[in-house]
Amino acid sequence: MGTIIPILFQGAIPIFSDLTEDTYTLDPTDLKRKITEKTRAIVPVHLFGMPTDMDPIMEVAEEKGIFVVEDCAQAYLAEYKGKLVGTIGDMGAFSLQQSKHMSTGDGGMTITNNEELADYARLFADKGWDRAKGRKYVMLGMNYRMTELQGAVGLAQLKKVKWVVERRRELAERLNNQLEDLSDILHLPIPPKHIKHSYWQYPVLVNAEKLGITPLDFSKALAAEGIPNNVGYVGEPLYLKTPLVDKKTFRHSSFPLDNPYNKDWGGYFKGLCPTTEKIIEKIIVIPWNENYTYDDVDDIGEAIRKIVNYYLSHR
Ligand SMILES: Cc1ncc(COP(=O)(O)O)c(C=O)c1O
Repeated sequence: MGTIIPILFQGAIPIFSDLTEDTYTLDPTDLKRKITEKTRAIVPVHLFGMPTDMDPIMEVAEEKGIFVVEDCAQAYLAEYKGKLVGTIGDMGAFSLQQSKHMSTGDGGMTITNNEELADYARLFADKGWDRAKGRKYVMLGMNYRMTELQGAVGLAQLKKVKWVVERRRELAERLNNQLEDLSDILHLPIPPKHIKHSYWQYPVLVNAEKLGITPLDFSKALAAEGIPNNVGYVGEPLYLKTPLVDKKTFRHSSFPLDNPYNKDWGGYFKGLCPTTEKIIEKIIVIPWNENYTYDDVDDIGEAIRKIVNYYLSHR
C-alpha cells in the first residue's frame, strides 16, 4: 500500500498492470495495454529487490511523454544493466522504514537528476514553502521532511548499506546454489545476468501441486522446521483491499475513485491481473537478513529440501 497511498493522496487513480511470473515485476506488454491519454506516470516496483525490466518501460514512457518514478523501497543498490535502480527513471523513491536495507526508524528519500522535479519535490517536504526562491506556500505541500536526528542516523546507515546489500546477496546466492536442482518444484529468485538483486526478502514460488499439497501446507511444514515464512505476501492484490475495491479512501468520500470527470478508468475487480493473483496464491516469502550465518542459510536450504523430498516420496 506504501506505493499506492501517495498516488491516491494526489487525487490520481492507480491503474494496475500485471506482473511477470518470473520476476514479480511489471509485465511491459500488459503495461502498454493499460496506458491511456490520462496516464501521467509509471511506477515500477522493484519487488523484493529484483529490478524491473526497465528498457521497455523507458521506451514507452519516452514515446508517450510520461514520467517514470521507480519504487526502490525494497531494492537499495540493485542494478539493471550496470545502472543502479532509482537512476534510470525520472525519480527514485526509497523507504527508510525499519525493515529496509537501511533505516532511520521511518521515513524515505526521493532522488532525481532533474532540477525542476527536485525543486517541486522539496515543496512536498516543507508545506509548499519554496525556500530557494524565498516564496512561502506556493502550493499545498505536506510536511514530509525528516528530522535532523533522523538525517544523522541515515548518514551513518549510508556507510554500511553497501555491505548490507552485498552480504544479503552473497547469502541468497548461497541458497540459490543449494536449491537450483529443484527448479521444477521451486522458482528461486535467481536474476538474469544483467541484473543484481538486493534481496530485501527471499521469495520462492512453490509448485505445490507437484508435491500433492497446497502452498499453505508447504508454508506450515517450513514453519514446523523452524523457518519463519509467509505465504501470499500481502494476502491479496492491492486492488482487492478495502480502500480500493470498496472505494473507502476517505471517511466521507471515495475520491478520486469516484471522480465524475474520470469515469472510464475500469475499476478494481478480481481477475484484473491474473498472473499477479496466481503469484500471490503460490508465493512463499522467507525473511532475509545480513546477519544470517552460513549455518542459518544451510538450515533453510536443508528444511526446504527435506519438505520437497518428503512429499515427492509420499505422492
Ligand atoms: C515496495 C514498497 N513501496 C513503498 C513502501 C512505502 O514505504 P514507507 O513505509 O517508507 O512509506 C514500502 C514499504 O513500506 C514498500 O515495500
